[in-house]
Amino acid sequence: MFHDFENYFKDSTDFFDQYQWLFKYPITKILIENCLNEFPDDWLNVLQKLSTEELNKFANGELINKNWPPSLLSFVNKCKTLNKLPSLQIKSDCQLPKTFKLGLSEKKQHEIYYLAELINDKCLKHNIRTIVDFGSGLGYIGQLLNYLYGYEVIGLESSLDNIKIAKKRQNLLYPDSVNKVKFFHIKVTNNDYTEMKSTIKNLTNDEEFCLIGLHACADLSVNAIKLFSIIPTVKLLIMVSCCYHKLEETDNETLINFPVSKKLKFIITENNNDDDDKYKEILRRPFLRLACQEPAKRWDNMSKDLHDKHAFYVLSRAVIELFTHKNNIKLTKCVKKATRISQCKNFETYLQDTLERYYFNENKMSNDEEFKNNIKNLWKLNESKLSIVEIYTGLQLLLQAPAESLVLYDRYYWLIEKNYSPEIIAVLSNIISPRCYATVAVK
Ligand SMILES: C[S@@+](CC[C@H](N)C(=O)[O-])C[C@H]1O[C@@H](n2cnc3c(N)ncnc32)[C@H](O)[C@@H]1O
Repeated sequence: MFHDFENYFKDSTDFFDQYQWLFKYPITKILIENCLNEFPDDWLNVLQKLSTEELNKFANGELINKNWPPSLLSFVNKCKTLNKLPSLQIKSDCQLPKTFKLGLSEKKQHEIYYLAELINDKCLKHNIRTIVDFGSGLGYIGQLLNYLYGYEVIGLESSLDNIKIAKKRQNLLYPDSVNKVKFFHIKVTNNDYTEMKSTIKNLTNDEEFCLIGLHACADLSVNAIKLFSIIPTVKLLIMVSCCYHKLEETDNETLINFPVSKKLKFIITENNNDDDDKYKEILRRPFLRLACQEPAKRWDNMSKDLHDKHAFYVLSRAVIELFTHKNNIKLTKCVKKATRISQCKNFETYLQDTLERYYFNENKMSNDEEFKNNIKNLWKLNESKLSIVEIYTGLQLLLQAPAESLVLYDRYYWLIEKNYSPEIIAVLSNIISPRCYATVAVK
């Protein structure tokens, strides 16, 4: 475990500042913002020669060549050293009871099985029998914790529809649990901690409990961490966060819950004095979007065919975006579904599909040949960038783990500042479930 958080936070913010061109804009805007022109030439010279297998390994940090340009070597090494998250474990043998497999994806089965195992381990050590589940969804993990280990579970959930389904599933599949697993329609917010405190006190009869969340999205997981520190009866916290990019902003686009630690906040404001708000800008939504991307592991064994499809899809979308931007056209969906991957055979079919799915300035353009030709010409001017798109994505994949590391260690350090001794545990396999780390703290 490392201890020098000051240097870690400084190094990270400096690094992300230097490589903003890799994440500052949504992928659809890479042509508008000229992101693909920011590559150092000597990087492209070596990276364009990589085979598909080599590119996959490169994105994982597994391939490095000492003959590469020093700046590229330094980038790859820095991505590795700035990822302080624990090593990942391969976990694939989950033995769920039959009723828990019904209607559940392999991903969800994996998540509830391994997180419930960790929760049980920790609760046994601290003699806890009650669990409060933030964002309980359809009640999957709560039901499992009751079924396998006998816990009493209180699920708090903001969606009434989810509560209805959770109760329906319970009556159908686990009718014996109705007095032990209960669901309540409650929205945990950023500003009502006093009210939340008394609500939870009533629901738990003021007994000690473990506060959990499985993919508690955005602010919900940070609010859980804060409530852990202010409610005396929360003995244990086990929180798997997700959707960092959906964190709430104030009116001036500052994120309420990132950074949360005083140390990272201080480092950002300290550095702001001499450089025009640059740090404030780095740690905003685009950075969180990067932290929340798929992990590089997803590229393990990815075929050339899939890479080609991905690059085609990204570049085609970016060309449409560039065209509408240049011509001041507003794009609005007229059908719910996005462009189907099956429509990505060539740009002609992609374009036709897009024209049928979107209004351009409120007009349907699918039969306008001149309009189509103008977009096709723009595609021709840009199609040579297909291979660069995959390299750009590979570099983003390298940056994802250090970005997620900074988000989670900021929360971790907030807990240290409150005098707890938190842990970050790799509880899931990130190939199956990308957001796989649990933040754990005990009182
Ligand atoms: C990603 S889902 C996870 C659901 C469940 N834990 C699971 O793993 O299946 C997040 C859940 O949190 C709920 N949620 C989001 N924000 C919430 C809030 N502020 N208070 C309570 N529930 C919330 C959502 O409605 C959703 O059901």
